[in-house]
Amino acid sequence: MLKLIRAVALPSLFALTACGTDPAPEPVEQIIVREPGAAPAATAAASVANDPAATLIAEGKAAFANCAACHTVEKGAASGAGPNLFGIVGTKAGQVAGFSYSDALKASGITWTASELNGYIANPATKVPGTTMIAGAIAEPAKRQAVIAYIESVAAN
Ligand code: HEC
Repeated sequence: MLKLIRAVALPSLFALTACGTDPAPEPVEQIIVREPGAAPAATAAASVANDPAATLIAEGKAAFANCAACHTVEKGAASGAGPNLFGIVGTKAGQVAGFSYSDALKASGITWTASELNGYIANPATKVPGTTMIAGAIAEPAKRQAVIAYIESVAAN
């Protein structure tokens, strides 16, 4: 009970002493936590802000979270529920070695241009009826564009 009263009384005491004295502003301390080896946040943000292509790729990398449950994109990475997507832009559909594709995708005759990828990611089953990619579609055109830019950027590096 005593504690409770003090807790209530103290702030009002402070309020009284502060009244009219115009105290100097408290120093504000900012602690930036980052992983060892990671680029300092400010520098990374600044360079991305100055480079629209880098911004798009960064957005695409974030949006690739929609795909990462099933797809890897790094060179030589194992396929998951979906095939590895390294270097997919410009290749024929259904060609990743060792992946078990649907007959529908194998027979689609698609070459994965950015525009074909855009259609497939927007709605796989509309683009390729019978495809076994049953999730991961992205409705927003800008996000699709970013994901495609990201996939291309991985292969370009
Ligand atoms: C639920 C798992 C899943 C998710 C999530 C998913 N995919 Fe797929 N994806 C697949 C499967 C399975 C296939 C193979 C489809 C087939 O054989 O019909 C595939 C095929 C593909 C292909 C054709 C590859 C080739 O070798 O021809 C592309 C391109 C692709 N996915 C891109 C994406 C992108 C980009 C995303 C995220 C926006 C995504 N996928 C999300 C499962 C997924």
